[in-house]
Amino acid sequence: MIALEADGVTSGYGETVVVRNMNIHVDAGSVTCLLGRNGVGKTTLLKTIMGVVPRRSGITRLFGQDISTKRPYEIAARQVAYAPQESAVFADLSVKDNLTLGLKASEAQARNVLDEAFAAFPILEQRLSQKAGTLSGGEKKMLVFARALVRHPRVMIIDEISEGLQPSIVYLITELITRLKQNGVGIFLAEQNLAFAMAVGDSYVVMHRGTMVETGAIEGVAVARLEKHLSI
Ligand SMILES: Nc1ncnc2c1ncn2[C@@H]1O[C@H](COP(=O)(O)OP(=O)(O)OP(=O)(O)O)[C@@H](O)[C@H]1O
Ligand SMILES: [Mg+2]
Repeated sequence: MIALEADGVTSGYGETVVVRNMNIHVDAGSVTCLLGRNGVGKTTLLKTIMGVVPRRSGITRLFGQDISTKRPYEIAARQVAYAPQESAVFADLSVKDNLTLGLKASEAQARNVLDEAFAAFPILEQRLSQKAGTLSGGEKKMLVFARALVRHPRVMIIDEISEGLQPSIVYLITELITRLKQNGVGIFLAEQNLAFAMAVGDSYVVMHRGTMVETGAIEGVAVARLEKHLSI
């Protein structure tokens, strides 16, 4: 089953077209990796799918349903979780409030949410009442990922989560993504960390200057073939 699909998506900022005629699909229970150098338009494509950057043409679908004209909050409400590259946390709110915000959860449900987040990233328990703005870069990334995780998404859109993270945390995230896949979640992730992408990915799409230049299965692909399309 196709969880997420972009069909001929073109988008950009003002007059500037950044993403041209991109086609991607993410099967339920699998990971599609969006690879490409700095500035090729990976983040812009993810933001277009989330409804944050306006689409000029093309269609985006969630489990076959057209979501092209939906607002970001409507897309999120359909169990699409987005972990942005810039680690957007509510800086003045505690780690606890960042995790439970908007869940309208009872006290017991909130407890479950927190337990789930701490099981994923034990360090967050020690930071519970700390303001999110005071966390380290890596801790912010963990918080953003945990916030997506506890919402039990059907689709996750993840932007360069491994950037700047220590290897032990990248390993934790690799394990979490593997479990999400087993639970049928479709994951679309932009990456430049090839080892991580190849550890979690099922298929890849290479983007260059806003367009798709190559696509294929991760299994059996030569590292050198993908490496040449990355900045790092
Ligand atoms: N808010 C914006 N307004 C105008 N141009 C932008 C904006 N955000 C990004 N761009 C431009 O769009 C192009 C693609 O940027 P984008 O952030 O999508 O690339 P990326 O592939 O995610 O790069 P990176 O690997 O560095 O994260 C770049 O030329 C960038 O300068
Ligand atoms: Mg980016």
